[in-house]
Amino acid sequence: MIWKTGRSVLFKFPAEPVHHFSMGVFGGISVVGPVAKMFRRRYSVTDSRLQTNFAGLSFANPIGLAAGFDKEAKWFPTLSNLGFSHIEVGTLTGQAQPGNPKPRLFRLPDDQAIINRMGFNNAGADKAARHLAKMTKSNPADVLGINIGKTKIVPVESATEDYLFSFERLFAFADYFTVNVSSPNTPGLRKLQDREPLIELLSEIQKLNSSLAADHEVDRKPIMLKIAPDMTTEQLTDIVSIVQEVKLDALIATNTTISRDGLATSAEKVASIGNGGLSGKPLTERSRQMVSEIFGQTKGTLPIIGVGGIMTGEDAWRMIGAGASLIQLYTGFIYGGPGIVRDMNRYLLRRMTEHDLPSIDAAVGRDCN
Ligand code: FNR
Repeated sequence: MIWKTGRSVLFKFPAEPVHHFSMGVFGGISVVGPVAKMFRRRYSVTDSRLQTNFAGLSFANPIGLAAGFDKEAKWFPTLSNLGFSHIEVGTLTGQAQPGNPKPRLFRLPDDQAIINRMGFNNAGADKAARHLAKMTKSNPADVLGINIGKTKIVPVESATEDYLFSFERLFAFADYFTVNVSSPNTPGLRKLQDREPLIELLSEIQKLNSSLAADHEVDRKPIMLKIAPDMTTEQLTDIVSIVQEVKLDALIATNTTISRDGLATSAEKVASIGNGGLSGKPLTERSRQMVSEIFGQTKGTLPIIGVGGIMTGEDAWRMIGAGASLIQLYTGFIYGGPGIVRDMNRYLLRRMTEHDLPSIDAAVGRDCN
């Protein structure tokens, strides 16, 4: 109720300034120790049935914040007080870049959706690394993912070096890495989902991963690949086989879509917004379908993070049922507000009780059998 009122006020203003304003205020008050603790008490759901191990890491519950919300890794300690088990920061790129001209972020309230063409605005991997060196998690158990992408001015043919640069700079700070080849707002980026460039990129990252792990005397970092929802079954099959070939740890499905099918928002309004990736409710079915397809193709042997249009506890439950071991949200958090992770975790527990399931792992892929 409080969030609905707050949201109706915030939604009267343009989306991007509101994002920075809200996080400025929320980030400011919640660095105060007792306030942070109060948020954590209010929003965290602690129950061993929600815990899961994924890609060698331990997660307190299956729900994480998707990439793009905390692009420059400024707010993750604060955000994890809202009950997320993991926060994926970024996308960070090798070089600093301003992103696309504004406005570039639009709400579609009639569809519970967002269109964005941010274009990886960020200060670059080097600056992010210097900043991350000064940050601490609010709880050591919170998992920090770092999502890396290609600098816009770097040609697709030289993309590997750009990713390797970011990977090397950020290695020490990530619990896991996500290789993003699926945002629609960097020209040519999705070309990296093609077989040859993808094998080259992922193999080189794996090599660097092993050598940095040896140098630092630590385990190699889990690496995940984030893919687009806009592909054919054949393309997906190809990607799944590459991911298995180069021994990545997981797939993240999906990023935003370039489709505009089935929207309630008027065609004029949609046209006036222009290009960009669509997220939120219109993506729910497509993302779940992709997760289900991956789970089916791999018989559940490839761990999956399901993302896209998870707006309610039921959406989360069904995404897990389709084969996702973890889920992430972005747009659902914007529309649902700060209590959404707590409500989703409670809902998952209720459904597990109903089905007499001892752990969330037991729910993964149940709808695929
Ligand atoms: C995103 N997303 C995104 N993904 C990514 O890998 N790197 C990024 O920088 C961004 N940036 C970004 C900005 C904005 C404004 C939005 C709404 C989304 C995609 C996001 O992580 C997620 O994959 C999709 O939004 C689908 O999930 P939701 O939003 O439907 O829960």
